[in-house]
Amino acid sequence: MTLPDGPRSRRLPRLLRTLKLVFRPLDYLDEYSLRYGDIFKIGGEKSPPFVYVGNPEAVKQIFTAEPAQFESGRGNGVLRYLLGDNSLIMLDGESHERQRRLLMPPFHGDRLRTYSQLICDITQEVTDEWTIGKPFFVRPFMQEITLRVILRAVFGLDEGERFQQLRHLLNFMLDALGTPLSSTLLFFPSLRQDWGRFSPWGRFLRIKQQVRQLLYDEIRERREQGDFSRTDILTLLLSARDEAGQPMTDEELHDELMTLLVAGHETTASALTWAFYWIHHLPEVHDKLMADLGTLGDSVDPMEMARLPYLSAICSETLRIYPIAPSTFIRILKSPMEIGGYQFEAGTALMPSIYLIHQREDIYPEPKHFKPERFLERQYSPYEYLPFGGSNRRCIGAALAQLEMKLVLASIVSRFQLALTSNRPIKPVRRGLTLAPPAGMQMVAIAPRLEKSPVRA
Ligand code: HEM
Repeated sequence: MTLPDGPRSRRLPRLLRTLKLVFRPLDYLDEYSLRYGDIFKIGGEKSPPFVYVGNPEAVKQIFTAEPAQFESGRGNGVLRYLLGDNSLIMLDGESHERQRRLLMPPFHGDRLRTYSQLICDITQEVTDEWTIGKPFFVRPFMQEITLRVILRAVFGLDEGERFQQLRHLLNFMLDALGTPLSSTLLFFPSLRQDWGRFSPWGRFLRIKQQVRQLLYDEIRERREQGDFSRTDILTLLLSARDEAGQPMTDEELHDELMTLLVAGHETTASALTWAFYWIHHLPEVHDKLMADLGTLGDSVDPMEMARLPYLSAICSETLRIYPIAPSTFIRILKSPMEIGGYQFEAGTALMPSIYLIHQREDIYPEPKHFKPERFLERQYSPYEYLPFGGSNRRCIGAALAQLEMKLVLASIVSRFQLALTSNRPIKPVRRGLTLAPPAGMQMVAIAPRLEKSPVRA
């Protein structure tokens, strides 16, 4: 068979289909995969199609193929507005490889250990604002924690006027694209019109310009200071040289900082918000987590805490059931390739669907049920469990995100007895290109458990 099946344009006009993708993204994937199978195409009548791939064998073919077989950056055009042309996410080929080599070390090994105490301290600072008995929206607090962590990792600092402004403006900028309605700006180019500061796109562009200025100011100041003994990521990028001995330009630095700041906190904040929902929606999950934490002493090493099996399983299941990114980045074929029994021409846009694979009954029995135990009972291959994507584009922040999830969750549930203000089931909503819990999710601290987090350096 040459091409997989998929909806024909005449059955459902393109506009309606895109609206469904924006407002009911999971129904879109569930319905099409049920109707057309675990590999299906969208479009393809006049130009090469988009192909969703929900089959682990086919995903394995994509992830293990020569990276030079695909282009990815070109497929992420919509992120150009947010991140810039020089973002790692927009690059391909050698420049992508070189930039990744530079950016990976700060997110691995010993460097992670240095972030662990920081994560616990920031969690303590941010949750000190909670008042017993007073409900609060969960997401803004999670976003504050993850933003402070990434600011500290990237700049070595998160204090002072410039950082206050940066924190405030980044939140504002991402919230401007963060509702299901405002996410339409990313999917319909014709809506991206600057009709002044009161129009949605105009507001976004103006905030983005302010963020840009702050980042340029910081870059300039750091170049002038010339202190290369610091261990933060900006220092690392400032000291990097290409083969010709040239440093990165201000434009390149800006785009990479923006990428780390945006990719490095929104996603983890959504994942944490989900984890709080599941733990408090399902009392048996909460009780097992408390029993897991109970095996630790009064003064706990953060890395020991991060190794707790049930805590780890909760985080894995959180990222399985509603993956924050429903698909990996697009892989555009540069030459024809056979995948999953189909023959695709150059130009075909392949999208390994994280959500569809995570919902497969044959890999995850009762896939709609939140069951952390599945991660204690068996191991999954990188083509069956892929919340961070795969191959040469796998998320560079995966280890940091998982560490952060575990430490923030464990620190908070050790300190507070919490409850959801409503126990009605919630479903993911679109937040830009990702999926997140609805912004209205609220919790309340019923009683304190401990004065301070039990975690020590
Ligand atoms: C729970 C949190 C997170 C999730 C679910 C997540 C998920 C993903 C996914 C699915 C991809 C695409 C991979 C592919 O196409 O195969 C990706 C790429 C990326 N992520 Fe994350 N991410 C998270 C946290 C982070 C953090 C903390 C950082 C901070 C540095 C980060 C930085 C990036 C970057 C720079 C890329 C682009 C990699 C490339 O194109 O080479 N992410 N992430």
